[in-house]
Amino acid sequence: MWASAVLLVLLGSFGANALDNGLARTPPMGWLAWERFRCNVNCTADPKNCVSEKLFMEMADRLVEDGYKDAGYEYVNIDDCWMAKQRDANNKLYADPERFPSGIKGLADYIHSKGLKLGIYTAYGNFTCQGYPASGMHLELDAQTFAEWGVDMLKMDGCKQMDRHTMKKGYPQMTKYLNATGRPILFSCSWPDYERGAGIPINYTLVAENCNIWRNYVDIQDSWQSVLSIIDYYAKEQDTLVPVAGPGNFNDPDMLIIGDFSLSVEQAKAQMAMWAILAAPLLMSNDLRTITPEYRDILLNKDVIAISQDNAGIMGKRVLQKTDIEIWLKPLQYYISYGLVFLNTNSTTAKIITVKLVDIGISPESRGYALHNIFNPDESIYHLSQYEEHTYYVNPASALLYNVYPSS
Ligand code: GLA
Repeated sequence: MWASAVLLVLLGSFGANALDNGLARTPPMGWLAWERFRCNVNCTADPKNCVSEKLFMEMADRLVEDGYKDAGYEYVNIDDCWMAKQRDANNKLYADPERFPSGIKGLADYIHSKGLKLGIYTAYGNFTCQGYPASGMHLELDAQTFAEWGVDMLKMDGCKQMDRHTMKKGYPQMTKYLNATGRPILFSCSWPDYERGAGIPINYTLVAENCNIWRNYVDIQDSWQSVLSIIDYYAKEQDTLVPVAGPGNFNDPDMLIIGDFSLSVEQAKAQMAMWAILAAPLLMSNDLRTITPEYRDILLNKDVIAISQDNAGIMGKRVLQKTDIEIWLKPLQYYISYGLVFLNTNSTTAKIITVKLVDIGISPESRGYALHNIFNPDESIYHLSQYEEHTYYVNPASALLYNVYPSS
């Protein structure tokens, strides 16, 4: 009671139109269709992989039965191409009846019966990125429709809204309409990415007042190169992006592609480590029906998830960069422990680096520190003074992830 009163006061201080849903206190976790399943609408030729209610129901089953839900993955998110090609007689959006015979309401009921949450997709502007009907002229009606269906998260895209200057008006309008429904709907915005692309200065204070999570940069693709280019963007912009992240608000570097076609196991660990350090949403876009155990284990690793889901919600920073090796640090709650990553961006050569903890932003601590190696516990370091030099070996295209905490 007391906590929610405080929360309301805090949220109220953002003003009447600000997002007041109390969601995303830590980075949201779940599954999102886009990177893996794209706009595959041909259920005749490819019934197993087309964008249909069956796909989302099967992923929900896997989330529950294979341990993902217990690990914290709770959202099952539809992306583009779910709609019928036009609105109904009352102007309402509805799902393609052949691919979604139960309708979104029926799908939401199924997802909720599994103890999971449903996310849906629309766009600001008249069409989605793939040319389906979108919310531009119908923000209020669509917000109400999504709430009636029992939707729990909304991603609002915007590539067909050619005047990018209108986004700072349109997205806050949707925030207002979502609030007015009374249903807590986590709001994922693409607005800053489109402003960035158009060279429009981004007002992140306004973004954070209106969105729970937001895309800043280009779409992830199924390649290590794509992962590295995204990490590099967040490093270059960290002085702007770190201050706006925190409980309720997170920068979104896009989906996890772990278990897809391109990342090696080591690269997959590196993406997982970096997304945890960045306090990024953990939205997997993969096929949970066929994923192999070594990738599944990475996604389910409790220690890396704990770094991602730390209550303070601080986004980590690149604290050092030296030819192909980067050190990233995320302070955890109370600033007494940290997530620490050594990332080797060189794909062919192993790298070594010698540093003192005190030189990479770790506070002096009379007991010294223990460094738990999250993916390789046998290689943990049990005691290290922050003033001692230590040499770290990092294989090509991979990362070391440590949880650093005071020695007992
Ligand atoms: C944009 C978004 C992607 C995806 C597609 C769908 O490119 O950034 O994440 O939603 O549209 O068309």
